[in-house]
Amino acid sequence: MVEILEEIMERHSGRAYSDKPVSDESIESILEAGRWAPSCSNTQAWNFVVLKDKDALKLGREHLSRGNAWGKVAPVMVIVAAEEDGGCPAHGLPYFMMDVGLAVQNMLLQAVHIGLMGHPTAGWKEEGLKESLGIPDKFRIVTVVTFGYQADLNSLDTETREKETTRTSRRPFDEVVHWNKW
Ligand SMILES: Cc1cc2nc3c(=O)[nH]c(=O)nc-3n(C[C@H](O)[C@H](O)[C@H](O)COP(=O)(O)O)c2cc1C
Repeated sequence: MVEILEEIMERHSGRAYSDKPVSDESIESILEAGRWAPSCSNTQAWNFVVLKDKDALKLGREHLSRGNAWGKVAPVMVIVAAEEDGGCPAHGLPYFMMDVGLAVQNMLLQAVHIGLMGHPTAGWKEEGLKESLGIPDKFRIVTVVTFGYQADLNSLDTETREKETTRTSRRPFDEVVHWNKW
């Protein structure tokens, strides 16, 4: 296999979070990485609501879907919100979603770089989250990303440990890549 950035290969959407606190400096480095993402006409559609204090986390955690209950242990949640019309309407495509996606991937890779784990999610109740956190109506929540240290995997039962260490697969290279023409 050709060599790519270590952080890309190390990143995974794990569910076993330790409750070990994350320093403000680490959180800031993740947000800063997000802020430097490219965006359509530099519109920078992203907004980050960072939940890191006990009361704020409690509010945020209440709106996670049942399937994402594992996220309640993560010591940091970043709510990523954007205006649906982010101001870059090329091709009639919702480019604000691409802006946000690029920012989130930057954040995920920076997290790996500093020894943390990030997990993007779509499983939460948008209205409840917006109301609890005072997010204005005109914004949509695109994703909620949990950040924290991975729990010591030895503390997990065998089945969970296996899930946490098995890499997800990808469509084959030759199915995805078209050289010179489709
Ligand atoms: C937009 C988006 C929404 C996702 N929502 C959830 C979610 O609600 N719950 C969850 O456990 N994982 C969620 N994931 C994680 C994906 O399941 C995961 O990225 C995918 O299976 C590939 O695994 P990997 O990230 O470990 O490489 C989401 C990922 C993305 C990009």
